[in-house]
Amino acid sequence: MMSKILHIDASVRAAINANPNHNSISKNIASRLINSWKQQLPIHEYIYRDVGMNPPPFINQDWIDAVFTPDNKRTEAQRDVLSISDQLIAEVSSSDILVISSPMYNYGMPAQLKAWFDQIIRINKTFDFDLARGDFPLQPLLAAKILIIITSSGEFGFEKDGIRHDMSHLVPHIRTLSKYLGVEKIYEITSEYQEFGDHRHIESLENAFQKAEEVVSKLADSFR
Ligand SMILES: Cc1cc2nc3c(=O)[nH]c(=O)nc-3n(C[C@H](O)[C@H](O)[C@H](O)COP(=O)(O)O)c2cc1C
Repeated sequence: MMSKILHIDASVRAAINANPNHNSISKNIASRLINSWKQQLPIHEYIYRDVGMNPPPFINQDWIDAVFTPDNKRTEAQRDVLSISDQLIAEVSSSDILVISSPMYNYGMPAQLKAWFDQIIRINKTFDFDLARGDFPLQPLLAAKILIIITSSGEFGFEKDGIRHDMSHLVPHIRTLSKYLGVEKIYEITSEYQEFGDHRHIESLENAFQKAEEVVSKLADSFR
């Protein structure tokens, strides 16, 4: 299998700052994973996007009009409106591994990452729609991708049976959306307790760094 990686970071914080207390945790875990990959395995293609710092535009009515206009009927202006979406979709299509790192903001993903998904999940590009399919008319057009989700949160207990499971809208949302990116296998790496700053945070972070290395080792056989 070719290792073509699309790496999306979503924190608005930089990985490295003058004050290390401000360093993005999710970006640093993602960077550990990519470095570990580079040490162990070839990377045939690597695309990086920091949507936290350079967010894609929000979709708007012109975007929707353009999307629902048949390809051969689109005006020049409509093609322009869709050019970023086309580019972002091409990046997903050409990759077989998606690494998405994200902070939890207000119990979900940053608006910047949602803007990225909104540009990508597009009718007749990444999914098609057919009422003949009954209650689930949407079907993805992409397939066979692996997704590695890396998240950081200030609180904790968002996992199944965790004390904040009913407030958990970050990983579950990404999981749901990933279907329309053609994802068939998901690995999750999570760091919690950032706001507590105690030994639980240190442990959680160390576990996340270790898990990043483990995920690479697990995938190694398929990509060597
Ligand atoms: C605007 C904002 C909203 C946040 N909302 C939550 C939240 O709802 N739940 C939570 O557990 N942590 C929340 N946090 C804490 C972050 O998830 C935590 O600081 C995380 O480490 C940020 O990711 P980063 O280190 O990659 O920047 C929030 C932080 C910010 C800046």
